[in-house]
This record gives sequence, structure tokens and C-alpha cells, in this order.
Amino acid sequence: MIHELNNPVVKTLLNHLRDTRTDALRFRHIVQELLRSLVYKALKDEPLEKREIETWQGKHSFGFIREEDLLFVTVLRAGLPMIEAATELFPRAEAGFLAMKRDEKTHQSVLYYDRVPASCEGRTVIIVDPMVATGGSLCDAIALMKTRSPEKIISLNLIGAPEGLEIIKQKHPDVELYIAQIDERLNEDKFILPGLGDAGDRSYNTP
Ligand code: PRP
Repeated sequence: MIHELNNPVVKTLLNHLRDTRTDALRFRHIVQELLRSLVYKALKDEPLEKREIETWQGKHSFGFIREEDLLFVTVLRAGLPMIEAATELFPRAEAGFLAMKRDEKTHQSVLYYDRVPASCEGRTVIIVDPMVATGGSLCDAIALMKTRSPEKIISLNLIGAPEGLEIIKQKHPDVELYIAQIDERLNEDKFILPGLGDAGDRSYNTP
């Protein structure tokens, strides 16, 4: 199921990302702010576990998300600012890294780095990647994560094309995908229109 954040604050921040005058530092900050909005929405029904803490009035129990059950997985490199913000929210959560590069001729993604636990039983896997263009990278990341048997898989994305999102919906209907903005379409080079260019390049000043 695909959930688009329909919110004027989110749209304003996202539109700053489209502006080429937004420098890399501000770009990463906005990406992180949008990540937080996506997390709040995606985990709105997460159960809370009572834990006893020391308060100003002595010991009391309050509800907390079981962060140890969360595994954030990102696809390098554009997803790095997102996983940074996610692990700031949940410092006890685990972080896993995949590297995939989209072949610019075939538009297929190729996996070349995999630092994700071999078993993800009992975990909520939360994949974070700013862009869903053809959907190829995300489809591959989800398929790979499914082989590790997690409890459920959530995807958090900033911007996507309807074509790529449709593929995710068809191939992985069990995945809950939260996205800040669904744009118009892909161009012939499989870039999102109007889009924001290449999020990895924009985050790290790569030409
Ligand atoms: C971007 C983006 C996704 C992928 C989306 O990464 O971060 O992982 O492209 O495209 P798709 O939906 O067509 O697969 P890219 O390959 O540009 O690498 P980068 O993160 O190093 O910039």
C-alpha cells in the first residue's frame, strides 16, 4: 500500500529540494526533516512497551517503542542522510547498508555491497531511499530483505514516479510504502519529472 504525505509543510520542504540553489548542507537537512515526518506517519500504530524509568517523582512506567526491533536499511549513497536521521531518532535501532548502482544503459540495479544481518526474524525492516524512479533498486532491496525473514517491511521514500511505484505495488503488495511526494512521470533517461535531479549528487556535491 502506498501512502503519500499530503501536507503543505512537506510540499514546501520538498520543493526547496528541487531548487538548485539549495546547497548540499541544507539539502541533507531537509532530507532528514522529511525522513522524520515519514517515520512519524509510518510508525503511528507501533505498540508501546512499558518501561520503568527514573523520573523527578521517582520510578514510574511509561511506553516506549522497542527500538531494538527496528532495522533501518539504506541503499547507498543517497540514503545516507536518511539513515543518519533515523538512527538519531532511535539510537538503539540497528542499521544495515546495501549498495546498488543503477546501470545507466540497462537501467537495472546491481548489488555490490551487503551489510545487513543474515537473519531479520522478528524485526521491522525499514528501507530508506530518497528516490523511486523505475522502482528497480527498491524492488531488489525488498526482495533481498524478504530472504532474511523479517516480521514486516516498510519503505520510506521522498520522491517517486508513478511508474516505479506501480511496480512496487504489483510485486510487493505486502510492503507499506510512505512517500513525501509522487511526481508526474519518468523521462526517457528514467529520471523523475519534475523531480529534483540526483539526490546523491545534490547531497554530496558530486557533479
Ligand atoms: C538512486 C536512488 C535509488 C535509485 C532509484 O540511486 O537513490 O537508489 O537511484 O532508481 P530506480 O528506482 O530506477 O532504481 P543512484 O543509483 O543514482 O545512486 P546514488 O545513491 O549513489 O546517487
